[in-house]
Amino acid sequence: MGISRKKGKVAADQERTRSSHDAATVLNSAPASPSQNLIIRKQPAASNVKPSFARHRQARSDGAIAATALSPGNLATDLREATRTLHESAERSGVLAQMLRGNVSVQAYAMLLRNLLPVYRALEEGLERHRNAPGVRLVARPALYRSAAIAHDLATLGFTTDRLPLLPGAERYAHRIEEVATTGPCRLIGHAYARYIGDLSDGQILRKLLARLLRVSPTALTLYDFSDIADLYAYKAEYRLALSQAAYEADGEAIIDEAMQAYRLAIALSCAIETATAEPARAMRTDGLPAPV
Ligand code: HEM
Repeated sequence: MGISRKKGKVAADQERTRSSHDAATVLNSAPASPSQNLIIRKQPAASNVKPSFARHRQARSDGAIAATALSPGNLATDLREATRTLHESAERSGVLAQMLRGNVSVQAYAMLLRNLLPVYRALEEGLERHRNAPGVRLVARPALYRSAAIAHDLATLGFTTDRLPLLPGAERYAHRIEEVATTGPCRLIGHAYARYIGDLSDGQILRKLLARLLRVSPTALTLYDFSDIADLYAYKAEYRLALSQAAYEADGEAIIDEAMQAYRLAIALSCAIETATAEPARAMRTDGLPAPV
């Protein structure tokens, strides 16, 4: 199973290879997406609106940076295009790939939850702190916040955070979000896109898959439960519009750049969880924590 995105097998493989390196390496490297073509879009008709960004820099296979004309108002589409190859890599990475192969244990899934918890907490604290800031105000939606659901699911599965290690990859991911919340809050929008549009999209697939694989009650999978939202499809479409609207008042190029960072961090974390759960004894000993549950 997988998202039907045909382009960029080579690029995805390269990105996957890179994702198994530590997150610092991944973060410092230029995004390699050889199959991503130049996106040239027409400017929107609304000439009275000042574009918040005019150009987006996109890495090519030769490492050169191509100037790409983007139009504000299309940010949601541009985010999808810019992260297409990274999304493919995410699906093929670490514990996420194990899930898709039907090869995931409750322990490994709990590790994923435990390590996503600080990530979502950092994101949601940042969004709340900047909920009146340009751009952020449009995407800070408590209805989407997932940290309480993650904590609930962990407890329902019988785990507590102090019994599962916090991996360096999760610390780096959460730290990056805390950093941008201080230095450039509009970058939080890139993280909100990656996590919440992801949860609204692939979360619905993962929820069914995990229920079958782990044989757990739906009450342990509330991370993907958005039943408070009456029409998920309509909500997602409206959230995409809000993302695109954000580009009129915040730095669209920075938002795209940060969404790509979000993917790299998520991929590195997925790989780290696979490693840690394959070698639980070593992972626990390194952190000085008790033996695995
Ligand atoms: C097991 C791994 C994954 C699978 C099987 C998967 C699958 C999918 C599928 C099928 C869609 C399209 C849904 C639709 O069009 O309605 C989608 C969209 C999306 N996924 Fe994932 N995904 C995975 C991992 C991730 C990760 C790790 C992230 C981010 C950290 C992510 C973020 C997104 C986003 C942002 C979208 C919306 C893309 C767009 O149209 O703008 N996904 N995913």
